[in-house]
Amino acid sequence: MRKLTYFIACSIDGFIGDPEGDATSMYKFVDAQFLEFLTTEYPETVSAQGRAELGIDAESKHYDTVVQGMGSYRLALDVGITSPYGHLREFVATRSLTESPHPDVELIADDLVGRVRELKAEDSPLDVWLCGGSRIAGQLIEEIDELVIKTYPQVYGSGMPMFGAGFEPRDFELEDLRVFDNGVFVRRYSRKR
Ligand SMILES: NC(=O)c1ccc[n+]([C@@H]2O[C@H](COP(=O)([O-])OP(=O)(O)OC[C@H]3O[C@@H](n4cnc5c(N)ncnc54)[C@H](OP(=O)(O)O)[C@@H]3O)[C@@H](O)[C@H]2O)c1
Repeated sequence: MRKLTYFIACSIDGFIGDPEGDATSMYKFVDAQFLEFLTTEYPETVSAQGRAELGIDAESKHYDTVVQGMGSYRLALDVGITSPYGHLREFVATRSLTESPHPDVELIADDLVGRVRELKAEDSPLDVWLCGGSRIAGQLIEEIDELVIKTYPQVYGSGMPMFGAGFEPRDFELEDLRVFDNGVFVRRYSRKR
C-alpha cells in the first residue's frame, strides 16, 4: 500500500491561508535557499506553470499522483489553467463540475475516500500527494499516512485550518525536520496507527 501524504504550507499557528484560504502572504519566504530545497527535493510539488517559469524538468521524487479539492483547483481554473500539475496524474474532488476541463484531469464526484483508497492500493514506487485544501483534507484525514508541513514564520490569528475535521487526537511521529535561514521549517511526520 502506498502512502497518502498531505504536503501543505501553513502559518506558525497552523492555518493554510486566510479565512478564504489565500496563502499569498507566505510567498515572500520562498527565497533562493528554500526554492532550491523545493525544486530539488520536491520538484513535483511545483506547479506546471512554476516549473516552466523556473525551467525545471526534474523527475518526481515522491509523488506521481495529486488529489485536490475544487476549492484548491479553482485557483488554477480562475486564471485559465486546467491542468496545474500536468506532470502528475491529477484528480479533483467536485460535485459541481460534471465534465473535466482537461482530458488528463479526472473528477471524483462520489466516494472520495473509496477512490483515494483505490489510488493508495495501486502498485507504484511513488506516493499520492494530497494537495488540499482544508475540506477534502478533513474528509481524508483517516487515510493520511504522512504529513509534510512547510511552516512559514507568520502568525495569522485565524484563518483556514489545515483540516476541516472534528476534534480527535491522532498521533504522528516526527521523521525529519529541516530548518532554513529565513525561519521556515519543514517537518515530516508519519502516522502512528
Ligand atoms: N497553504 C497551502 O499549502 C494550500 C494548499 C492547497 C490549498 N490551499 C488553500 O485551500 C483553499 C481551498 O480549500 P477549501 O477547504 O476551501 O476547499 P477544498 O478542500 O480544496 O475543496 C472543497 C470542494 O471540493 C469538493 N468536494 C468536497 N468534498 C467532496 C466529496 N466528498 N466528493 C466530491 N467533491 C467534494 C467540493 O467541490 P464542489 O463545490 O465543486 O462540489 C468542495 O466545494 C484555497 O483557497 C487554497 O488557497 C492552501
